[in-house]
Amino acid sequence: MKIAPSLLSCDFSKMGEEIIRMDKAGADYMHLDVMDGAFVPNITFGAPVIKCVRPLTKVPFDVHLMIDNPLNYIEDFVKAGADIITFHVEAKSDIQQTINKINAFHIKSGLVIKPNTPTEAVFPYLNMIDMVLIMTVEPGFGGQSFMADMLPKALQIKDEAIRQGTDILIEADGGINEKTISQCAEYGIDICVSGTGVFKAENPKQAIAYLQSF
Ligand code: DX5
Ligand code: ZN
Repeated sequence: MKIAPSLLSCDFSKMGEEIIRMDKAGADYMHLDVMDGAFVPNITFGAPVIKCVRPLTKVPFDVHLMIDNPLNYIEDFVKAGADIITFHVEAKSDIQQTINKINAFHIKSGLVIKPNTPTEAVFPYLNMIDMVLIMTVEPGFGGQSFMADMLPKALQIKDEAIRQGTDILIEADGGINEKTISQCAEYGIDICVSGTGVFKAENPKQAIAYLQSF
């Protein structure tokens, strides 16, 4: 299992050091949650902040956009150094145009679905994206309880991808820790985001290694 620590749970007074701490602890990706206070009831940070911390690590940046109009900001996030950009099917931007915009920059693209969104919403786009991110909490905040009933979505998406003859990575996000990771592994999740689970761990290196062992 690949692990992507979510910077949402870091100490923002030293975000750079926190990224270096997660790099040294063995993170496979850095997960950056961008929130606009409109798509979700919380505000975090945007492209200028990501650009400042990007040079601190070689670990790929997985940018999760929880914003109403992702299309308008794709270029900013690419220039800030995003390696993967995921955005929500529930956002206002045209999905196809937004995928095209990300793909034109030759970085990885992905779609995110909230817990109440049916899996079928991503089916028409599977052959043009690299990843589907399944929310296992309502987006907006770290530290919420894991929704195990979202996991079957992973099997549905993998089945549909096989049917379409395409390959897709599945990422899960929200409430993932040492207690819930085994369920993610059982359902074939490729990448797990973990905020509280790794940042609040006494020994993040051990915590990440344990999560990766699944
Ligand atoms: C929630 C974010 C998640 C969150 C995960 O909207 O997308 O990435 O930070 O944090 P934990 O692991 O604490 O649920
Ligand atoms: Zn996220």
